[in-house]
Amino acid sequence: MQLKVFKNYQEMSKYASQIVLDVVAKNPQCTLGFATGSTPLGLYGYLKQACKDGTSFRDVSAFNLDEYVGLDASHPQSYKYFMQHNLFNELDILPQNCHIPCGVATDLQAECQNYSKQLAKHTIALQILGIGGNGHIAFNEPGTSFQSTTHVVQLSPKTIADNARFFDSIDQVPTSALTMGIGEIMKAQCILVLANGKNKAQAVFNMVKGPISTSCPASVLQTHPNCIVVCDEESASLLN
Ligand code: F6R
Repeated sequence: MQLKVFKNYQEMSKYASQIVLDVVAKNPQCTLGFATGSTPLGLYGYLKQACKDGTSFRDVSAFNLDEYVGLDASHPQSYKYFMQHNLFNELDILPQNCHIPCGVATDLQAECQNYSKQLAKHTIALQILGIGGNGHIAFNEPGTSFQSTTHVVQLSPKTIADNARFFDSIDQVPTSALTMGIGEIMKAQCILVLANGKNKAQAVFNMVKGPISTSCPASVLQTHPNCIVVCDEESASLLN
């Protein structure tokens, strides 16, 4: 695990964007794994600018980590909406190459199986991850098997409380989601974890220095051969 600490959010986001752009430059037909949430927004800003400046994502395929159950693409808090409005609409990526699990599928188990099947046809060159305050990656909450594939998850009270800031009230936060499994995330050739802010300091510490345990799902990343953690000083403040 490589750790890169930057003075602030802008600097870490810029550095992270260079990692993504290098992967695309090396293989314009690569598959990228994307995350939602507030952490990667700075990085996505730099990717949108790079596209305006001439980098093409036309042949890139995208797989997202997760989606809330019950929210469709028109809901502003759905991850489909998030990706469209915060990234994809301003890239030349082709809509048919952008994959996000469908949170309103009538058969959620079948949707998970189908997502795993689609994913298995690709090798993710670079997986972008954020980290939850409880150490979750994607929506793999503490206790999730490191071998898991795409599945339906009941969100933990901590995740629901953390994500309530995006909704009018906590009652509106969906209580379940579809998430890529840890086993699938670990198959990525390279994993780029982003973290910023004091509220992530304990999770970052547990990920980097804690025991490898399902009680902190992100700790499994210590066993990945090519994982880069890019964070700001606040989120790295518990590390020496
Ligand atoms: C989002 C995701 C989550 C977030 C995590 C951190 O697709 O998979 O694991 O990365 O909850 O969220 P933020 O960035 O909002 O702090």
